[in-house]
Amino acid sequence: MTAAFADVSAAPLTELLSLAGRKAVVTGGAQGLGKAIALRLAEAGADILIGDINAERAQAAADEISDRSPVRALGLAMDVTDSESVRAAASSAAREFGGIDIWVNNAGIFPSVPVLDTPDNTWEQVFAVNTRGVFNGSREAARHMSGGKRGGVIINIVSTAGFTGTAPGLSAYVGSKHAVRGMTKQMALEFAPLGIRVLGVAPTFVPTEGNMAAAAVHPATEESGRAMTVMTNSLIGRIGTPDDIARVVLFCASDLSTIMTGSTLLADAGQTI
Ligand SMILES: NC(=O)c1ccc[n+]([C@@H]2O[C@H](COP(=O)([O-])OP(=O)(O)OC[C@H]3O[C@@H](n4cnc5c(N)ncnc54)[C@H](O)[C@@H]3O)[C@@H](O)[C@H]2O)c1
Repeated sequence: MTAAFADVSAAPLTELLSLAGRKAVVTGGAQGLGKAIALRLAEAGADILIGDINAERAQAAADEISDRSPVRALGLAMDVTDSESVRAAASSAAREFGGIDIWVNNAGIFPSVPVLDTPDNTWEQVFAVNTRGVFNGSREAARHMSGGKRGGVIINIVSTAGFTGTAPGLSAYVGSKHAVRGMTKQMALEFAPLGIRVLGVAPTFVPTEGNMAAAAVHPATEESGRAMTVMTNSLIGRIGTPDDIARVVLFCASDLSTIMTGSTLLADAGQTI
């Protein structure tokens, strides 16, 4: 039996958008899309725990949030492939903030290797971070979310690669992101009775520290260059920014989107039309 999510139709816009009093976890939030997402959620009023495999950068991002917004921000070491590590970070958030309302599964990796050259452990690692990491995070989030009047929200950062094939070399990545879209649907079904919505956001190519560093050292540079060109020629006429994606995530996290669960929103500048 599904719990009734509150009807907020009469609420003023500022209240719908506000995350004041909400408690959020962003995985892989030390840089790139995750950091941009954490900054916007904090600006909307949520306390933020950034869990990242790079603890030092997670703390630096949390410090930046504290400098900009009057919320509590913590940075912690968390490896999303390790369920114990995810459990410990979730417990820290629940203990420090008094609960968890929003969980963004953002951590991801995107090594580019042609299928014929892909070692087993590269495939395993991509699925461990991008797919099992989402499962680990969602399971832990749901254990801590109390539902309540506004319910919990889990947001999975997918990719246009969860909808279509993409540049050569990204087979494991494309598979891992299609899987996350599937889990988004299934977990929406399973978690609705707990008062939890589950949504995906599928960005197009957006330059970040991670993909720019990969492009700099990897033969996929040409592909990244091509992605840039595709984006420059996109329907929005410019290359997207991490904040373009963060604002869509904010919409999902807020009560503006209470009618939605189980779907993955394309944040793709029309790339997949
Ligand atoms: N940037 C894009 O163009 C783009 C497009 C579509 C989807 N995405 C998705 O967005 C997400 C973020 O991408 P990004 O471009 O910001 O990447 P990024 O490399 O800049 O940031 C990823 C963050 O995840 C962290 N991380 C990596 N492995 C981890 C692990 N095992 N546990 C915890 N943290 C870990 C990294 O330390 C880093 O801080 C990924 O899921 C990616 O697939 C990105």
